Parts: sequence; structure tokens; C-alpha cells
Amino acid sequence: MLDKLEEIKKSALISLASVQNEADLEAWRVKHLGRNSPLMQIFSGLSALSLQERPAVGHKANLVKVNLEGVLKEKREAIKVAVLAHSLEEEQLDVTLPGRGIRVGRLHPSTQQLRRVIDIFAEMGFQVYTSREVETDEENFQALNFPPHHPAREMQDTLYIDAGDRGENPLLLRTHTSPGQIHSMREASSKNPENPPPIRIVLPGMCFRSEQITARSEVQFNQVEGLAVGENITFADLKGTLSDFVRRMFGQNVRTRFRASYFPFTEPSAEMDAECFVCGGTGCQVCKQSGWLEILGCGMVHPVVLENGGYDPRRYTGYAFGMGPERQLMLRYKIDDIRYFWGNDVRFLEQF
Ligand code: PHE
Repeated sequence: MLDKLEEIKKSALISLASVQNEADLEAWRVKHLGRNSPLMQIFSGLSALSLQERPAVGHKANLVKVNLEGVLKEKREAIKVAVLAHSLEEEQLDVTLPGRGIRVGRLHPSTQQLRRVIDIFAEMGFQVYTSREVETDEENFQALNFPPHHPAREMQDTLYIDAGDRGENPLLLRTHTSPGQIHSMREASSKNPENPPPIRIVLPGMCFRSEQITARSEVQFNQVEGLAVGENITFADLKGTLSDFVRRMFGQNVRTRFRASYFPFTEPSAEMDAECFVCGGTGCQVCKQSGWLEILGCGMVHPVVLENGGYDPRRYTGYAFGMGPERQLMLRYKIDDIRYFWGNDVRFLEQF
């Protein structure tokens, strides 16, 4: 019996040596110390032994039990330490790695430029007037002195809206912000037809043309329209205001020039150039060696347009201008392809 106990102990210790994890250890415990283990069977068989044998076997069995429980405990600790060491090794946290940055959103470059333009005119006393993107032919063209079939419409290839047969007055997407001139004048004059109030507004927003999309033209783009109507407004006011705008936007020493041009809704009409702020006027790729950059179209509001807006052209005069913020950004940052603006590529957008 004593030999058998020695045997039980030996084989338990041998098999414990190969135990590597907690699950195996538990299995080992059940097998060698559990209720049905050979060792426990010896305990339950003690009563069947003779009185002489019983104390020695009982004593020895206890020693074996204490011994096995001791090594079980040691092994359990050893496995715990090994598991911890393993996870420290495996799940190492490298505190020297760069963190994952949070991407901060920003305004679209066109919106930023629109706001710069608006800020400057706001300082000069202009208010912001927003107007619809879907217009009638009447407001986008006819009231602005483009009759149906007028050749000047050719410059503004138009996207029409399918709205049934509306004769000569189809619905369309505005091709420029100029119909806002009509809206703002009609709104103001309808409140006081005898004595319409003076107007001084800028009118920002998206315009749409049915263009072939290329590096230089897009089907959508922003414009900022300006309109001043009142008594005794002259071309000198137009020149002064716009020259000051250019200096505030592009630099105090930037010179400007006006070239005669044509728009049906202004008379006289002009285009304004700014001295190339990339090369300072000496000639470069951006200004195509001319030293000048075309910035905007402008002119004195045509009498017919004043009339259509409810302002008596014998009493009132006014000036209007229209400019493109994307074009300004392209010149300023030498962006050579207008398609970047609506291409939704963050590599472009996040530079602004
Ligand atoms: N609406 C014109 C265009 O889109 C620009 C313009 C506005 C010209 C106001 C004169 C006065 O080309």
C-alpha cells in the first residue's frame, strides 16, 4: 500500500511537469486529487484496512496529498506569472508611436473666399442679399435686357428645368447672380413705389451653365454680384469702390484698370483688371505675360433694368458688378484646374 502511494505520487509529479496552462492544470487536479482519483480511493478504503496498517497508510496518504496540493499551488502561480509575462510581451504598447490625429473640418475654399469678399464689402456698407438658384427666363435674362434669342445669351449656355410648357418663360438654373438685381430692386420698390429706397448689396451664390467641363470651365461656380442704386451714383463711385476692393483683397499697391466691354444690363460696361499680383505686373505665366489679371465685369445699371426693377431711370442711377471667387482663388494660389473645387478630393481641400 505504501509503495502504491509512492507510485501515485511519482506519476502525478511526472504528469504535472508537462502541464502548461490552467485548463490542463485543472484536468490534472481532477485526475490526481479529485474525488475519484487513486489517492482519494485510498482514503476511502482506509476503514477496510487492518488496525496495524491503517495509521502508517493514513499518514503516508496525507503526506502525498499535502505534497500534491503544494505542487499544484506552485504550478498555478507559475502559470499565472507565465501568462502575464506572455501578455506583456504580446500586447506591448509602444508609447513612442505617433498618435492618431483628429481631423478637423474646415470651410470649403470657395466659402472662405466668398466670406473674404463679403467682409470687404460689408466694411464699405454693403448688405448681403441672397437670392434663389432656380430662376425664370424673365428674371435671369429678359428683365436684364436679354430678349428671347438675344445673341448675348450665347455666352451663358443654360440648364433648363423640366417644368412643362411655359412658353417664352421657362424655368432654369441661374446662369449668373445678376437676376438678384431684379429681385432686390423689385422687393425694395414694391414697398414704396413712389420713393424706392437706395440699395447697396452684395449677392453671393452658386451659378450654373451647361459647359463642357474642362480645366477652365465647370457647370457650377460661385459669383458675387454687387449692386448700388440711388440718386447721383456715377461711374466714379463704381471705379472708386472696386479699386478699393482690389487693394483690400490683393494688396495696397495693386493697380487696376478698366477696359470697355459689353453686357446687355449695363451701359457703359467694363471689365476690370488688377495688376498681376503674382509677378507685380512684369509678366508671368499666370497673367500670360500681360501683367494684368481680369477680375470682374461691371458697369452702370442699364436704364431698362432700373425700370424693370421699379426704379425711375430719370431719377436713379446705379452700378453693378460681378466676380468669381473660384477665379480669384485660382489666380491667387496658381490653381491650374477649376475641377479641383468640386472634385471633393481632401488632398486639395485640406490645403486651405
Ligand atoms: N453677370 C455677368 C456675368 O456673369 C457679370 C456682370 C455682373 C457684369 C454685373 C456686369 C455687371 O458675366
